[in-house]
Amino acid sequence: MLPELWKTGRLATDFKVDTTAPANIAWVKYWGKKGPQLPANPSISLTLSESRTHTTLEATPASDLRLELWFQGAREEKFEAKTLAFLTSLAAELPGLGHAHYKITSRNTFPHSSGIASSASSQAALALALGELLAHVSGSFADLKAVGSIARLGSGSACRSLYPGLVSWGETPLIEGSSDLHATDVTSQVHANFHGSKDCILIVSSKEKSVSSRAGHGQMSAHPYAHARFAQANMHLSEMWSALTSGDWQKAGDVMEADALSLHALMMTSRPGFVLLEAGSLEIMRLVRLFRQESQVPVYFTIDAGPNMHLIYPHEAHAKVEAFVRHELLRFTENGSGVIWDGMGALA
Ligand code: PMV
Repeated sequence: MLPELWKTGRLATDFKVDTTAPANIAWVKYWGKKGPQLPANPSISLTLSESRTHTTLEATPASDLRLELWFQGAREEKFEAKTLAFLTSLAAELPGLGHAHYKITSRNTFPHSSGIASSASSQAALALALGELLAHVSGSFADLKAVGSIARLGSGSACRSLYPGLVSWGETPLIEGSSDLHATDVTSQVHANFHGSKDCILIVSSKEKSVSSRAGHGQMSAHPYAHARFAQANMHLSEMWSALTSGDWQKAGDVMEADALSLHALMMTSRPGFVLLEAGSLEIMRLVRLFRQESQVPVYFTIDAGPNMHLIYPHEAHAKVEAFVRHELLRFTENGSGVIWDGMGALA
């Protein structure tokens, strides 16, 4: 999937590029991998607009590969070690990357490692920067599918952040052009009822989570429910696709909630099991369902790998959801003010 041209050339002069990429929230989750960071099941997500990573990549020609990484204004040794290992493994395939000293400066508009898909936006922004660098070095262009392959190798879900709107990743007969190697923008096939979908992110805790997604994916290979989960995820994807293409919010919402709960059930039933949800997450779930039942407002929850809650709803419901969140849910969030009003960005 990586262009042959990208395997040629070497940096001759200093290079600098600024990139940005948004987070995404999966409505049907990817949990479990096969081969070189390929998904065990297809997934579908909403790309956000407010929660993003801004990255600057500077590269200076050198005889070896070195890296300095700054995050939110400070040197970040943990991310630096991870990113250096990632660049070194990429350089084995793309030798042009191996002869430079890099400085990466990165900033998020939201808390990292707290289940707001920070790895997706940061790895997508980094992949866009590396794509620009490789295009510059090899005299070609930054092919988005190839950039997607780089993003995927950094963090699986990152490849979905390269496209706006609703995006799938993972091969499925339901979606034309779908692939395990890169994501596919499916927004134009999705009913207009879902255009402009909102995501109210409730930050129950911004503390770094106790178990990484990488470790959680790894546990799926020996998980007693792995086989059943992959069958369920495919079924959820098929139900979600039919809801998305027919404009059925209730069906999409039911599947979204079931899939999020399944993700957390898998975590709890791993060996060793772990719980990322907090008391506030459970209260929010209960109150969202009660509010929906009483008000008939189509608002549904989903959860990433963390305690924070995402409320997904059509943009027409915004005023009602906003009032509900302010009156009933903010008290479960960090300092009573942990909320990000996000959603699908404007479509080109
Ligand atoms: O992108 P990764 O490899 O860090 O995995 C994240 C997986 C989930 O965010 C939990 C689900 C998903 O599909 O986004």
